[in-house]
Amino acid sequence: MKRIVLGVSAGIAAYKSVLLLRLLREAGHHVDVIPTANVARFVGNATFEALSGNPVTSEVFDAVDTVNHVRLGQQADLVLVVPATADLLAKAASGLADDLLTGTLLATRAPVVMAPAMHTEMWQHPATEANVAMLRSRGVHIIEPAVGRLTGQDSGPGRLPEPEQILEQIQVHLGEAVLAGRKVLVTAGGTREPLDPVRYLGNRSSGRQGVALARAARDAGAEVTLIATHLEVPAPHGVQLIQASSALDLHEAVFAHAPGQDVLIMNAAVADFRPASIESAKIKKRDGHSAPLIELVRNPDILADVVTARDTDPLLPRLIVGFAAETGDGEGSVLDYGRAKLATKGCEMLVVNEVGAAKTFGAETNEATILFADGKAAVNAAGSKIEVARIVINQLANAI
Ligand code: CTP
Repeated sequence: MKRIVLGVSAGIAAYKSVLLLRLLREAGHHVDVIPTANVARFVGNATFEALSGNPVTSEVFDAVDTVNHVRLGQQADLVLVVPATADLLAKAASGLADDLLTGTLLATRAPVVMAPAMHTEMWQHPATEANVAMLRSRGVHIIEPAVGRLTGQDSGPGRLPEPEQILEQIQVHLGEAVLAGRKVLVTAGGTREPLDPVRYLGNRSSGRQGVALARAARDAGAEVTLIATHLEVPAPHGVQLIQASSALDLHEAVFAHAPGQDVLIMNAAVADFRPASIESAKIKKRDGHSAPLIELVRNPDILADVVTARDTDPLLPRLIVGFAAETGDGEGSVLDYGRAKLATKGCEMLVVNEVGAAKTFGAETNEATILFADGKAAVNAAGSKIEVARIVINQLANAI
């Protein structure tokens, strides 16, 4: 049992918070509901009191002797705000605390998850985008709104996801060991393809996202093996660390460690090509000689090879997660290319990133879309790399 604060702000989607409250109670959690004052225009406190079994108020000046505005946040294991209106996001982003919910958001040190719901225009307004970015930078987990029918005839991004989907996304934040007893193999970093004894062809992957995935899988109770190719960040404690350098090394290491694993997460940026030969001595520039041409040959596709090898080896992971860094072009969007790659690679899940100059490589934050081979609707994952990792881990725990 966890202690959960369920904040509710005043939007039409407040009725869905009642269903979420029911699900949380059925899962055995203690829930304190804190609606903002105008929620009463949509759902009465009596509903929240009856379903939570706890007193409900929006006011700081009710039950002053128990110092509710500090106590509820301090005691909570998780604070949810479902739905989060544009107004509530703005207040939280600027640290206002003029009612019980906003006071609780300042007082708590527990993980905070907000599920925004509003009209598309409000969601896409630069003010809301800036507030969401600010909250994310402070570690708040924002559940992306769904795309669909809104209050009136209009339709677009801004709809509150269904309560079951919200519950699915907060499992890891509830500290639930969703991968207990599971073995997870993660590859992270970027390969280096040797050219001569001092030079190599490499790429810009820092390994941050892969390390975050290993951490999140460990925190979710999994036994984690991390195959690291040139990380710029330290590997997490509590995982088995294996080093590899080139794509061929990584291929060998993956096949050595994959049997017996439940999940393979192929996050490493693997060079598709390597120099056809490695010079045994340093390549020298010589006056009068032209610059050397480097002939490249194809590297094996490690992910595709593991997928194929599963046909004959039942010990290989049943759940394989690939990553794809894509840029859209005139012929297709990032997601079009992602879906095509999911189909050709044959893995169960593909996490697609849009890459650009300032995006993804080396950055602290990430924005990705998780695609599923079984036709399940795509899930957006945005935030710090550990947040994105938690969302991916949650999704794969549901897919095992
Ligand atoms: N991958 C791999 N072996 C390779 C290349 C990629 O296992 N030789 C894996 C990556 O770890 C990632 C996924 O395949 O999980 C997709 O990588 P990406 O570089 O986006 O795709 P490619 O197959 O290389 O396709 P392209 O570069 O042509 O888009």
